[in-house]
Amino acid sequence: MADATSVLHVSPVIPVVTIEDPQHAVPVARALADGGVRIIELTLRTDSALESLKLIANEVPDILVGAGTILTPGQADAAASAGAQFLVSPGMTPSLLDHMLQVGIPVLPGVATVGEVMAVLERGLTAMKFFPAGPAGGPDYLSAIGAPIPQVQFCPTGGVTLDSAPGYLSLANVTCVGGSWLTPRAAVEAEDWQRITRLAQGTASLRQH
Ligand code: 3PG
Repeated sequence: MADATSVLHVSPVIPVVTIEDPQHAVPVARALADGGVRIIELTLRTDSALESLKLIANEVPDILVGAGTILTPGQADAAASAGAQFLVSPGMTPSLLDHMLQVGIPVLPGVATVGEVMAVLERGLTAMKFFPAGPAGGPDYLSAIGAPIPQVQFCPTGGVTLDSAPGYLSLANVTCVGGSWLTPRAAVEAEDWQRITRLAQGTASLRQH
């Protein structure tokens, strides 16, 4: 089983994907894989999200699919049962984090403050999602956190773009970034899979350390 740190190394960008129609799930995943991006954070923001998660997990084995927007213990359990290979939460509470850790798959808890980083670190985790990255302070803020807490690696997400990604990826404490720009809603609704593949290919120039 992958650990959360190795999840951060799969791709310079973790696409944050929201699917309304489960029929779009497999084509979106294949389009990303065709463009060289082999990981998805599938958000649990739609009624059909678990069905989409199951379809991707079963039918696109070359994609590592995780569940995002985990807000409750029940969602963590349901996501794991549907085949999620990792769990992502936008923020952290101690009780949700404890439950997510019991599920037994890699966990990327969301953090936005130094105190939250320290609380997650106390549980022994050194890989975290930094959310919402742009509004919370961007690369300067993450760089400042790295001075007292250099052992944590972040996946900044929220307001990150192809243009702003290099500024994050150049930091010693950033392994990858996350963002929804690889799967624009309009492209998914128009079933424009080639556009999604091209957007995924656009990340090939980004470098991970
Ligand atoms: C998330 O859940 O990580 C965010 O909604 C993604 O943020 P973005 O749409 O600004 O990329």
